[in-house]
Amino acid sequence: MSNKIIISPSILSADFANLERDVKLVENKGADWIHVDVMDGHFVPNITIGIPVVKALKRFAQKPLDVHLMIENPEKYITDFASAGADIITFHYEAVEPENIKQICKKIKSLACKAGISIKPKTNQKDIIPYLEYVDMVLVMTVEPGFGGQEFMHYCAQKIPEIRQNAKEDLIVQVDGGINDVTSKICVSLGANSLVAGSYIYKSKDVKKAIESLRV
Ligand code: DX5
Ligand code: ZN
Repeated sequence: MSNKIIISPSILSADFANLERDVKLVENKGADWIHVDVMDGHFVPNITIGIPVVKALKRFAQKPLDVHLMIENPEKYITDFASAGADIITFHYEAVEPENIKQICKKIKSLACKAGISIKPKTNQKDIIPYLEYVDMVLVMTVEPGFGGQEFMHYCAQKIPEIRQNAKEDLIVQVDGGINDVTSKICVSLGANSLVAGSYIYKSKDVKKAIESLRV
């Protein structure tokens, strides 16, 4: 496992009227990736942004676009998100048929993107162990997906060690939801090496300091 922690600020907490400004802000203050939360109002009870916005982000974003699909039938949209400029495409285990996972990952990788699989809080980590060989990243949700600003759920982070033990060295384990300078430490000590943070970064007065506080 690489020691480098990948910080992926979630633009869900950015000002949507100033996306360019807010993406450049975190890029200039140390972000590694830009986390883009796509919600369809079906898989989760909220609707956010889609393919045209990813395409627009790609016009100015310098860092890789880390696209988190909280949508039903993600396989239908993978090509569109890749063409729009996604660099990492993460789909939810709960949104697909398990027998299609290998094929979905193959498709994502064939489009020159990293493939991620995510599990919601109530999903057991054991369910995704058989598929770890096909993915570049596992995203362990540490809140119920759908909204920013929720409180970190400790029991979710406890899934990380078993995922780590069953994965190849270079698997990225990302956490998302309620990440701040305290909860980040818990996740990293359990084996996470990518942290998504929305409100903690965007609501802080000193964005550089906030990002740095997640790394140590
Ligand atoms: C929640 C999203 C998160 C969200 C995190 O469904 O997947 O990426 O933006 O927000 P915070 O960091 O505020 O919990
Ligand atoms: Zn997310």
